[in-house]
Amino acid sequence: MVELVDTQDLKSCGHCGRAGSTPAPGTHSILRMIIDLRSDTVTKPTAAMKEAMLSAPVGDDVFSEDPTVNRLQSLAAEMFGKEAGLFCPSGTMTNQIAIKVHTVPGDEVICDEGAHVHYYEGGGIAFNSNCSTKTVSGQRGVFTAEQLQQALRPRDIHFPRTSLVTIENTCNRGGGKVFPLKNIEQIRSVCDSNGLRLHLDGARLFNALVASGTEAENVGKQFDSISICLSKGLGCPIGSLLLGDKEFIDKARRIRKVLGGGMRQGGFMAAAGIYALENHIQRLSNDHQMAKEIEQILNESELVKHVLPVETNIVVFELNPEIVVSNFIEHLKRDNILAFQVGPAHIRFVTHLDVPEIAPSIIRSALLTYSSSSSAVGI
Ligand SMILES: Cc1ncc(COP(=O)(O)O)c(C=O)c1O
Repeated sequence: MVELVDTQDLKSCGHCGRAGSTPAPGTHSILRMIIDLRSDTVTKPTAAMKEAMLSAPVGDDVFSEDPTVNRLQSLAAEMFGKEAGLFCPSGTMTNQIAIKVHTVPGDEVICDEGAHVHYYEGGGIAFNSNCSTKTVSGQRGVFTAEQLQQALRPRDIHFPRTSLVTIENTCNRGGGKVFPLKNIEQIRSVCDSNGLRLHLDGARLFNALVASGTEAENVGKQFDSISICLSKGLGCPIGSLLLGDKEFIDKARRIRKVLGGGMRQGGFMAAAGIYALENHIQRLSNDHQMAKEIEQILNESELVKHVLPVETNIVVFELNPEIVVSNFIEHLKRDNILAFQVGPAHIRFVTHLDVPEIAPSIIRSALLTYSSSSSAVGI
């Protein structure tokens, strides 16, 4: 991302080299390259995407009359072999609607302890669906059919009724780990034997498909409902899709309206989604490759204790204990690298289509300059 800034915001002025001077308006603005690795949600629409948005035919989508929204919904549903789709403002909303449709108050939802639907989403499962969660401890978000089997409760009036299992792919808090198709198939089989429905939080599902070479339809047929986000690695400004059979989507449409998520001329946003599905999926492998490069640089750095093995576009690493995390993040910031703290000594980098190719080498030099500065020992 390249940003026009006033030189007051920089360490020194790129125009005259002076630090902290007050530039005359218009004379000291320069271009600054920001490497924003906090999340893949920070992307801005490309020129081609904006063009697609501006030229989209639109209508009132609450009346199901927006041709572009309708086209996006059918396109995504077809990709995953589902009957229908529903365009929503966010991944939180698609997840929460799915949970609401699949459950009745008092039910229990089983998911991994780090699952977005449980760990984040503001207690939405309780708030929206009046359900409780039972968590299993997977490996970086990936749990097994055996763990699910053990978590099931007998049908007994004393217990909540388990009705839904949710899987996340890729696993956000697991550092972008791919949930293997084999595990999913085995979990599906436990769900079938126990009358449970299976929902997929696929906020970064395309990253998983590209990284594992799995066909969308093979994943699609394992689930009763799927949420995919357009506003993450695919680079759209807004939007997620909920996919399922027609009856499920009819119910979901009603709940979307109740939650205030019915949009009118949503086609302008849906056009970005169509553009992304047609142009931004295969390029995710570039993000994965860059994440691998960064992983290697981090593994070679004396500042870093451990890097979670990179599978997609998320790099989570732990700093050595003598390093003060906030100092380190500030140091990166001075080199225009933005990162997120995700644990006591843990930092996350997420690669995406707005990260410049030069990012790994800038990270490498930032690590080297930190090593040689006094802040490296936490002063
Ligand atoms: C795995 C996962 N699910 C759901 C969401 C929610 O998406 P949104 O921010 O669009 O509500 C996120 C957001 O980061 C996510 O990482």
